[in-house]
Amino acid sequence: MAPDDGPRHTLPLRPRRLRATENIRRMARETRLSTDDLIAPLFVMDGANEREEVSSMPDTYRHTIDRLVDKAETLHDLGIPAIALFPAIPDAKKTSDAAYALEPDHLYPNAVRALKDAVPELLVITDTALDPYNSDGHDGIVRDGEIQNDATIDVMRQMAVLHAEAGADVVAPSDMMDGRVGLIREALDDAGHPDTAILSYTAKYSSAYYGPFRDALDSAPTDEDKKADKEIPDNKDTYQMDPANGEEAVRELRLDLNEGADMVMVKPALPYLDVIHRVQAASDVPVAAYNVSGEYAMITAAAQNGWLDRRNCAMEALTGIRRAGADVILTYFAEDAARWLSA
Ligand code: PBG
Repeated sequence: MAPDDGPRHTLPLRPRRLRATENIRRMARETRLSTDDLIAPLFVMDGANEREEVSSMPDTYRHTIDRLVDKAETLHDLGIPAIALFPAIPDAKKTSDAAYALEPDHLYPNAVRALKDAVPELLVITDTALDPYNSDGHDGIVRDGEIQNDATIDVMRQMAVLHAEAGADVVAPSDMMDGRVGLIREALDDAGHPDTAILSYTAKYSSAYYGPFRDALDSAPTDEDKKADKEIPDNKDTYQMDPANGEEAVRELRLDLNEGADMVMVKPALPYLDVIHRVQAASDVPVAAYNVSGEYAMITAAAQNGWLDRRNCAMEALTGIRRAGADVILTYFAEDAARWLSA
């Protein structure tokens, strides 16, 4: 340690001793962020050899399947173990029953097959919610202005089987319908896919931080042009959780574990670090946290203005999410973080 100029007091307790050099800080470090912990969300769209930047997520793109495969190869080479895939479906194919989700060879299962052909080791996590396919912009079927729980699960069960047939390693229901984990498990097992895992969005909050993601998929339930029927709710408050609730996350966890979830998730991450901590304490399966699109957009936009340092803020955020108790993190910073970690 550099000698102090001033007087030296007798102070037996000096926590700064463990902060004095990089090597002692490395030894004292409690939380490690590793490329092993990162899951990269990716967006796929129709077409060939194209990518489109998401306007509210600089440097994040929707990729056509061929470009998606290139990106997956890059991520795999960087050591990232898994991707979570979301489809941008053209408006013309969206209907109020989300039927396109069940077409056996549409964009999404085709993308999964292409990924598993090209990079079989990279885990593919598929999304079984209806919102990318639903003209009402909801994760469930809407009837008489209400989001239907059990009718939605019937579609999701078939989606999960379609995804497993296409080669998905993990299916991830991101919808918050009651009972879907158990019913999807049963459908997968009945269809001969006992090894396909379920990552449940266990505590998914009705959050304003999903805005940029809804731009990416053009899936916001608030779009006036989508809402011929004004009865359709313009928010997801009747199924996603109230941001004020923490105890309820533990209840959702208990249900999902009882229904057979292999992994559980808290989403968003940064405004819900206490929830991550509580869920980790009560969970005996790995806990994921989703560092969502709005969290990415905040740091990236501030950095573009020269107001924040993008790299340092992103790494601090990801480390904080790990410290709170997340075992793995879905983050749009995944590729950058993997590069920073290996530099
Ligand atoms: C919908 C879904 C959402 C996200 C993932 N799946 C948005 C929503 O619930 O409206 C958000 C992810 C993000 O913001 O990065 N099933």
